[in-house]
Amino acid sequence: MGLKRKDLLSLTNLSAADIALILDTADSFKEVSGREIKKVPALRGKTVVNLFFEPSTRTRTSFELAAKRLSADVINFSPSSSSVVKGETLLDTARNIEAMQADIIVLRHSSAGAAETLARGVKSSVINAGDGWHEHPTQALLDLYTIRSRGMGFSGLKVAIVGDVAHSRVARSNIFALTKLGAEVRVVGPPTMIPLHINQLGAQVYYNLDEGLRGVHVIMMLRLQLERQGRALFPTIREYARQYGLTNERVKLAEPGAIVMHPGPINRGVEIAPDVADSLSSVILDQVANGVAVRMGILYLMSGANA
Ligand code: CP
Repeated sequence: MGLKRKDLLSLTNLSAADIALILDTADSFKEVSGREIKKVPALRGKTVVNLFFEPSTRTRTSFELAAKRLSADVINFSPSSSSVVKGETLLDTARNIEAMQADIIVLRHSSAGAAETLARGVKSSVINAGDGWHEHPTQALLDLYTIRSRGMGFSGLKVAIVGDVAHSRVARSNIFALTKLGAEVRVVGPPTMIPLHINQLGAQVYYNLDEGLRGVHVIMMLRLQLERQGRALFPTIREYARQYGLTNERVKLAEPGAIVMHPGPINRGVEIAPDVADSLSSVILDQVANGVAVRMGILYLMSGANA
């Protein structure tokens, strides 16, 4: 059984069964990272190209480790030292990489829709590793995996996604997936950071953080995207931190045992207080560790190795 698709671009067109298959496959790979020899031969002979046009710490490293632990050959393509600086287009770059028999291209790009454009232009499988403000499907899948690994079911689960929802591809992918799985999703933030009509995606809108956190099982904090929005959407960062920053006092408004998540990178002291980020409630580093297993599962399913 496989995902029966060439590409992974969005979570809108994955079924609940597809999501369960990815999480279950990740489960089967999780223990590989704990072995002394962290390798299995599942993707031997396959080639994975990481094509990252935007900075990344977690996603790029995680895909590289995942592919290497599956014994694939991995190329990390760096736009700044490639012919992109001479004006080569995304599609031409990808077609040249494809001509060298790349099986899977993992793309991060600042433009929404870039992964879909690429997928239409190449025969290689394309995995969206974040496209502009659109989607970051593998981040949401590792978030789901982390929630599930804490023994939480999705039906009736209350999740608050807090902060700069308007600029967040992570928020969009999580809203699509969590609502599909039966969770109750709240988006919390100042009106300037909550998109109009987001309730049509099934999310409830809260402009007050304390109200939005009351009774939730999962608190998912988002990074204030200073490089994308400047200070245009809130008067000062200090005021933002006071009204929308997560403190230990505010965590107590959630259900006992609630977990605190963040996709990273975090702005300590802005959207999350340092003692919350480092607290026992925080699963931020679990998310990073689980990302490798989830991406191993995705690469395996996308490669056709299980066909
Ligand atoms: N969560 C995430 O996408 O982090 P990076 O930007 O470091 O990949």
